[in-house]
Amino acid sequence: MDLSVDAVIIGMGYVGLPLAREASAAGLSVIGFDLNLEVVDGLNHGRSHIDDLGDSEVVEMLGRGFFATTDASELRHARTIVVCVPTPLSSEGLPDLAPLRAAAESVAEHLQPSMLVILESTTYLGTTDEEIRPILEAGGLVAGKDFSLVFSPERIDPGNKTFGPKNIPKVIGGHTSTCADAAEAFYSRFIDSVVRTKGTREAETAKLLENTYRHINIALVNEMAKFCHDLDIDLWDVIGAASTKPFGFQPFRPGPGVGGHCIPIDPNYLSHRVRARLGYPFRFVELAQEINAAMPNYVARRIQDQLNLDGKALLGSAIMLLGVTYKPNIADTRESPAIPLAKTLLRQGAELRFHDPLIKQFAVSGYDVPRVDDVTESLADADICVLLQNHREYDIEAMTAVSRRFFDTRGVAPPAHNVELL
Ligand SMILES: NC(=O)c1ccc[n+]([C@@H]2O[C@H](COP(=O)([O-])OP(=O)(O)OC[C@H]3O[C@@H](n4cnc5c(N)ncnc54)[C@H](O)[C@@H]3O)[C@@H](O)[C@H]2O)c1
Repeated sequence: MDLSVDAVIIGMGYVGLPLAREASAAGLSVIGFDLNLEVVDGLNHGRSHIDDLGDSEVVEMLGRGFFATTDASELRHARTIVVCVPTPLSSEGLPDLAPLRAAAESVAEHLQPSMLVILESTTYLGTTDEEIRPILEAGGLVAGKDFSLVFSPERIDPGNKTFGPKNIPKVIGGHTSTCADAAEAFYSRFIDSVVRTKGTREAETAKLLENTYRHINIALVNEMAKFCHDLDIDLWDVIGAASTKPFGFQPFRPGPGVGGHCIPIDPNYLSHRVRARLGYPFRFVELAQEINAAMPNYVARRIQDQLNLDGKALLGSAIMLLGVTYKPNIADTRESPAIPLAKTLLRQGAELRFHDPLIKQFAVSGYDVPRVDDVTESLADADICVLLQNHREYDIEAMTAVSRRFFDTRGVAPPAHNVELL
């Protein structure tokens, strides 16, 4: 048995690749395993496909011996295997553990005594013990005795320049305390702070609590945005004032909906589990889901209201969407609220176009929304411009100055006769 590689990381995405970089920078030998040949080839040629990591950093990793592979047999040399594959929702909106199970099967096939297996993908509580452990133990090795099994939730915030893999405290929950010891020893080699929970289920639930907390608080301000508008109260001003309280309040801001890989998805994993297990709903999550999911349609209605002031309908109006990613400065449109918004506007016959400095193509229900290259020139042609994402390239003041109507869903535009805030 040759466990000569410190870590094989499964899934070279937004989570796995920065983790691989951090471990490799600390001197660990690291291999990245991914099923996507394009991703693997790109990395092996020094190309990064995610925003948080430049090509030069991949080149540095390669220089330290890192490589990516589609060959699962590399797993057999790993002292530690970290699973960072996606955990999406199925088309019915239910948790889809297929990538996670597939990754666990790959691990099981190459599992060796004394290995440490860590699951980082966000998932519903009980997954490590009830879904992954049986797959890993099918070959006869026993978790906690022959190999270590740990859940350690990924907390990365793509685009965040202050907090990254090294200085975000790492929560770990072991199947046994010896398993947690092994994970603590592993992560402590390249992460500043490690926090232990009682077991895997507590670590799984901690992650779901974090994301559910955000989901619910965003829903709270989104709902407030609606009635504040009807009462002619400036919610952005309200939030600014409330934020001056030095304790007990954390500001959240409204927006056109929630997007990305976590907030619209993870709380569903939690409410699904509560319902399936206990037979009753997790009402907070379900309400937040309902409110946040309704925001794109609310934004469409507000666009319609503003066009109405000019005697125009959505049908035939030129509407410019600015920033279609799910968060600023990140080239990621997964679950972006721009998608359901665009669908609604297109269904009503709007002539849609978009600009996003990070996105070249924006397809909605198989239709490629036309992209404008020179945003400043095109703004004046639109009946209304809708700011969905405040990318750092955007000069909002200059944009509002040339727009006929500017609908700001992010609360960043200076007051002007043609500016309307969400
Ligand atoms: N992106 C985030 O901001 C973020 C933050 C915290 C937690 N998470 C969680 O981390 C997990 C990973 O998310 P991500 O954003 O890195 O996903 P991603 O889609 O960016 O990357 C996942 C990678 O895994 C690969 N993959 C899929 N199935 C595989 C398999 N069976 N074997 C090997 N490779 C496989 C894919 O090809 C892809 O390259 C998810 O559970 C997510 O919820 C993500």
